[in-house]
Amino acid sequence: MSLVEMSGISKSYFGVEVLHEVNFTLEAGTVHALMGENGAGKSTLVKVLAGIHKADRGTVKIEGKEVDIGSPAQAAELGVAMVHQELSPIYEMTVAENIFLGREPGAGGFVDAAQLTRQTKELLDTLSLQINPKEKMKNLRVADQQMVEIAKAISRDARILIMDEPTSAITDREIDRLFAIIEDLKARGTGIIYISHKMDEIFRIADKISVLRDGNEVGTWDKGDVNIDMLIKSMVGRELEMQYPKISVPIGEVVLEVENLSLAGQYEDISFQLRRGEILAFVGLVGSGRTELMHSLFGVTHPDSGRILYEGREIHFKKPKDAIDSGFAYVTEDRKKEGLVMPMNIQHNVSLSALFNYVKGGLIDAKHESGTVQGQVDALSIKCTSSRQLVKSLSGGNQQKVVVAKWMLNEPKIIIFDEPTRGIDVGAKAEIYKIMGDYVSRGNAVIMITSEMPEAMGVADRIVVLSDRKKSGELKRDEFSQEAIVKLEFLHMMGGGAK
Ligand SMILES: Nc1ncnc2c1ncn2[C@@H]1O[C@H](COP(=O)(O)OP(=O)(O)OP(=O)(O)O)[C@@H](O)[C@H]1O
Ligand SMILES: [Mg+2]
Repeated sequence: MSLVEMSGISKSYFGVEVLHEVNFTLEAGTVHALMGENGAGKSTLVKVLAGIHKADRGTVKIEGKEVDIGSPAQAAELGVAMVHQELSPIYEMTVAENIFLGREPGAGGFVDAAQLTRQTKELLDTLSLQINPKEKMKNLRVADQQMVEIAKAISRDARILIMDEPTSAITDREIDRLFAIIEDLKARGTGIIYISHKMDEIFRIADKISVLRDGNEVGTWDKGDVNIDMLIKSMVGRELEMQYPKISVPIGEVVLEVENLSLAGQYEDISFQLRRGEILAFVGLVGSGRTELMHSLFGVTHPDSGRILYEGREIHFKKPKDAIDSGFAYVTEDRKKEGLVMPMNIQHNVSLSALFNYVKGGLIDAKHESGTVQGQVDALSIKCTSSRQLVKSLSGGNQQKVVVAKWMLNEPKIIIFDEPTRGIDVGAKAEIYKIMGDYVSRGNAVIMITSEMPEAMGVADRIVVLSDRKKSGELKRDEFSQEAIVKLEFLHMMGGGAK
């Protein structure tokens, strides 16, 4: 008997059907990966199992018994726990309170605070997490918030554990730790549904793989029976010509020059040049100082020493607005906090940063606005019913595309992308790389922070490596290799100084 059997699941949002009679079976003691393009219906399907959405049609059986899952509480009672794609911790509460919300130890309505802290500490220890149970959630970095979310789901001792892109913000070391725990849960008979766009993870951890496309189930395979090309083809519905399309663009003059830039505690003595037509990748471990450096280039923070020259002139941006006015754009890694206004529609989100382009005598030229936004929606293949759809109702990856669209609209001269393709499917990734290529071919330049090495090697013209807040090296395309990059990333630990 299967642990979970979902049959004929259909679901519509506002009259648009996004799941069409999907069947999905989960066996105890297996990791079952669920893959598909952004908007394919992965999150929607698992949310039906987690009691967040109700299916319009179809049945769910758990251990052979048909169940009616009307709420997350009922799902929990049936042994279902879920790590959500979009983190939504209660920021003002502590780590311990977040994890044990609604099931705090104690009696008669009183919470046993010491016990709560102890239980949390034990749980965090099993995950080797050095996080203080009494710390407020809002003070944690995103990676730790994600680990707490994972800890919370694990602490429920669920029979059925759903992980919707659990590794989007965590580092390789934490991923290893997570995978060890997954192996452990598997051995104890837990069934795990694992959603991810990262092929390497899927091939490491999954036993079975199912693919959804446009709300239809394409197929289910044992891991040994598929390869990456087959998976991509079944997800995208066609052969993807290139995972990392790279158009050849003539490299022009230097547009940005950074000389010996330092900011105490953030980055030290950084120098590099950026030329027109170039895509320059910044790689490095978490904490290597990449984002901090970019914040200074964009006027969020101010360097202590060193110079930034833009088109040959020294610049001192006091605030991001100055950077934007000079033709800089910054696509942040945290779309929820900095990138998007969730309750607004796509059109308004995209045009927010470009609104002044559509202002005619003080009024927004709505017709022009919607025309241009539609162009961006098409160019990035944002999957939506119309550009009037609210951003919060888009699939996670499509929200990320809206962030990209928003910044591209102004045609800035330099765009800084911080992890631009996090949570984005393979097909859409290739589209974003193509768009980047077109963008630099018009004489612009791109700086891209990325943690995905294949991405850096696939699309960049040069790679700058930061290690422990210093520049540890720079590689040209013909010098790119996984080993060369890793060596530079760990340079600070191998006793080597910065070059
Ligand atoms: N609350 C909602 N209201 C309206 N439409 C929604 C809502 N949630 C999801 N959708 C739509 O349902 C479709 C499936 O979305 P879903 O979130 O399941 O995709 P996904 O496969 O998880 O994608 P991703 O990889 O981007 O996370 C999308 O077209 C999305 O816009
Ligand atoms: Mg999703």
